[in-house]
Amino acid sequence: MNLHSWIPDDRIPKIAVLTGAGISAESGIRTFRGNDGLWEGHRIEDVATPEAWARDPETVWRFYQGRRSQLHEVEPNPAHYALAKLEKSLPKGHFTLITQNVDDLHGRSGSEVLIHMHGELRLLRCQQCGTVDEKMELVHLEPSEYVTCDSCGDEIMRPHIVWFGEMPIGMAEIEEAVIECDLFLVIGSSGHVYPAAGLVNIASVTGSHCVGVNLDRPVNDFAFHEFHLGKAGEILPELVDSWIEVLNL
Ligand code: OAD
Repeated sequence: MNLHSWIPDDRIPKIAVLTGAGISAESGIRTFRGNDGLWEGHRIEDVATPEAWARDPETVWRFYQGRRSQLHEVEPNPAHYALAKLEKSLPKGHFTLITQNVDDLHGRSGSEVLIHMHGELRLLRCQQCGTVDEKMELVHLEPSEYVTCDSCGDEIMRPHIVWFGEMPIGMAEIEEAVIECDLFLVIGSSGHVYPAAGLVNIASVTGSHCVGVNLDRPVNDFAFHEFHLGKAGEILPELVDSWIEVLNL
């Protein structure tokens, strides 16, 4: 198979990328599933549902404050930087990065057109008035000390995270980018969580070349046209450089 047959003859291609926890693994952030995964040590229904927040906000708050404070200790890795480089090589409107990750490593490595479909650890959201604010200076508060909303004075802002049972953020924009792209690249995702895991099917039926990069085979691997097994931080810089070269960017 010619690995570059997806490239149109008469125009610069559009590229959409979906990332999952695996892209941040080499930065020291735990993935969710498998040995030592975050969901091995915590029950989803205790920390990642609206019901858990209503029933026991202190446990949920402690869990997310721990993850928020970790952002001060980690750095982007070569895979994050490779995606930022690819975006900068393409004209505006030709690149969309969709991430399931709630860390801030894509933004810190220079990615600009970025949709955080599962929310962002940096942000808190007021349940009363909907105000979204960054409060990273408050990650070391005691578990029972919640953050008050500056806009309406409500005393308990929630993490700006899409929990199980809630709608992902930006779905209309995401679907548009996936339908329009010539190349759809998925990195570091096990393919268990929908609707993210189904985007490769949309891309495939709408004519995109679908490329996967993952340490092991995801459960939806049959949907990809091309697969690279290994570490994102090792594979992605080379893959991106090869595309930049063949596209003459
Ligand atoms: P998972 O933890 O389910 O999967 C991470 C994938 O990354 C696995 O298939 C690993 O093999 C792979 N991986 C690990 N290290 C890697 C590396 N260095 N390079 C490449 N791949 C590597 O994480 P996600 O698929 O992102 O949602 O999980 C999806 C959603 O489930 C998350 O956004 C989260 C979770 O519940 C919410 O919290 C709403």
